[in-house]
Amino acid sequence: MEIASLIFTPKVPQLNKMRVSAIFPSGFYSPDAIPMRVSCSSTVQGSDQLFASKSQSSRLIGKGCKLVGCGSAVPKLQISNDDLSKIVDTNDEWIAVRTGIRNRRVLTGKDRMTGLAVEAAQKALEMAEVNPDDVDLVLLCTSTPDDLFGSAPQIQAALGCKKNPLAFDITAACSGFVLGLVSASCYIRGGGFKNVLVIGADALSRYVDWTDRGTCILFGDAAGAVLVQACDSDEDGLFGFDLHTDGEGNRHLNASVKENETDGGLFSTNGSVVEFPPKGSSYSLVQMNGREVFRFACQVVPQSIEIALENAGMTRSNIDWLLLHQANQRILDAVATRLEIPEDRVISNLANYGNTSAASIPLALDESVRSGKIKSGQTIATAGFGAGLTWGSAIIRWN
Ligand code: ACO
Repeated sequence: MEIASLIFTPKVPQLNKMRVSAIFPSGFYSPDAIPMRVSCSSTVQGSDQLFASKSQSSRLIGKGCKLVGCGSAVPKLQISNDDLSKIVDTNDEWIAVRTGIRNRRVLTGKDRMTGLAVEAAQKALEMAEVNPDDVDLVLLCTSTPDDLFGSAPQIQAALGCKKNPLAFDITAACSGFVLGLVSASCYIRGGGFKNVLVIGADALSRYVDWTDRGTCILFGDAAGAVLVQACDSDEDGLFGFDLHTDGEGNRHLNASVKENETDGGLFSTNGSVVEFPPKGSSYSLVQMNGREVFRFACQVVPQSIEIALENAGMTRSNIDWLLLHQANQRILDAVATRLEIPEDRVISNLANYGNTSAASIPLALDESVRSGKIKSGQTIATAGFGAGLTWGSAIIRWN
């Protein structure tokens, strides 16, 4: 077993040499505002257990950031467990008991993931009362972009952000939204950004094997968004976080590029080109070892939330809501039990939408905020986990 840890210390003297004295709109640091030490940690798998190394930093120092708006969107087509039982050997009872899922939404026809993402982002901007022109960064957390080169720029254009803010994709499957939130806070605290749209959107229905009852019952399509805004440090709403990746676990959950059929490569043994140009690539459908992913999630998520709480200087008693990636009700229950968080403090909407990957946390957040369940000033422990394998937690305050 080996635990790796990486510590990054900004090169303050070089920046001093540049005599940067203020926070510029993007890219430059003010020496006064530089977080003195930013660190992250990673783990590798031991013989039979994953060990989480403790994040070194408790909080970034400097500006604050807060969540000021949210929104979500789902496709119109609803597919029930009974509908699925007509195409694979399954039934409503098995799916409901093993997962908690009863329905999911699926994109049809010409509808695209970016359409959902734009709708969710518009609602978040409306709630935040922020004009699209005042957005200076769009982070699209997705593993199913409509364009191989990323879909965030299309969303930026569709929102009508005339000042052309930076927009790019973050690929981290079901952990994407938590990584996006933490990234937004880093851009705000260290980079001088003011209004960051974090969108979680996925259309895994396009990459699911609809003949595999072990996976097709789980997933649905959706988008959710939040507007993260710079604020004074005393209003700060991201208290602590904890992020990890274990690439060894990729074998348990992936949708990899299909093997090139030439197999032996482009050159024969005497060095002559046997096949050029190469064939185009495409991705295989989602492959998952459900039992392993289940075991992994139940093990690492409580650990990660404990570390994020510690980094925030908080305890379990400070948590008003537990908002986990909506993968399986049994995972939600197991994590809540480990953390001794009562059932009525656990947000769950997966019965209606299934596992919507990067969209699941902001979708559930948006529904809970709009229904009045989550109230202003409440503290939420959120955690994402999934392909990578990647997982992470953040302790946040709503508005
Ligand atoms: N209907 C009926 N029977 C089924 C179905 C189905 N849809 N699927 C599997 N079965 C059968 C299996 O064939 C097996 O039968 P057997 O005992 O005769 O061999 C039996 O049910 C038990 O199968 P398991 O796979 O052990 O069932 P399990 O209780 O583990 O539930 C599930 C499977 C729901 C997939 C669960 O393992 C799970 O939720 N895993 C976590 C998945 C997850 O959280 N993914 C998150 C990340 S997603 C991302 O990052 C993109």
